[in-house]
Amino acid sequence: MGTPTSSTIAIPETGDVPRHVAIIMDGNGRWAKKRFLPRVAGHRRGVEAVREVVKACMERGVECLTLFAFSSENWRRPTEEVNFLMQLFLKALEQEVEKLHANGIRFRVIGDLSAFDPVIVEHVRRGEALTAGNTRLTLTVAANYGGRWDILQAANRCLAERPGEPITEELLAARLSLADCPEPDLFIRTGGEERVSNFLLWQLAYTELYFTPALWPDFGAAALDEAIASYRARERRFGRTSEQLAATLPQPKVG
Ligand code: IPE
Ligand code: IPE
Ligand code: MG
Repeated sequence: MGTPTSSTIAIPETGDVPRHVAIIMDGNGRWAKKRFLPRVAGHRRGVEAVREVVKACMERGVECLTLFAFSSENWRRPTEEVNFLMQLFLKALEQEVEKLHANGIRFRVIGDLSAFDPVIVEHVRRGEALTAGNTRLTLTVAANYGGRWDILQAANRCLAERPGEPITEELLAARLSLADCPEPDLFIRTGGEERVSNFLLWQLAYTELYFTPALWPDFGAAALDEAIASYRARERRFGRTSEQLAATLPQPKVG
């Protein structure tokens, strides 16, 4: 695994295309409700939006795409909806993993999988192993994921591996679930809510945040391009001044 980049230790290289896009796919239930359909119909359509966005990211040269599919708090939903989401996840694994592999996509899942049906875990592990050598796009699905869970599991691993040693930023960052991807450049949340909902709490330190009222099933390549256009118009200062950026000073190491 490569050295993890940390935006608070060294200023990351940035370009016109975000290297890492992280998305909270929200609004499936409202999409369905607007059409007098059951909420689960929105989740089903959400899978189609995933397909389109994965393809668009690949075509645009995004290196990492991370999708929030099920949060550690989503267990609080009605049992029938949780069960449906699990079935949908399994079906998507069965139907999509081979296609991802054929497209050179590395697939993996982050989150606490111990709560999932062993059949799902088996499919996940098989898909991860099959696609492990692919380099075109790293597609990470966050399932039973929580930002606080991630920080805690990383901290506990630091303590177990180096008892008595203080935890440093580098040690912790290297043990987070997404350690082998650069920190997200662009965060997108569909569905109109402007909150992070316990997604990548540590890694979003210097991420550009983009919120859109579009509901996830309506989100696609054109909507992604709008988000990327907004991202391009941002000035990523990482603590410096605009004048410093304009002078294109050699980027000093922070800290
Ligand atoms: C996001 O859509 C999908 C999951 C959280 C699994 P929602 O189901 O949250 O849709 P809304 O927010 O109720 O519209
Ligand atoms: C966040 O959406 C989690 C996922 C998209 C998987 P939620 O719909 O669960 O978020 P809240 O509860 O409105 O914050
Ligand atoms: Mg929601």
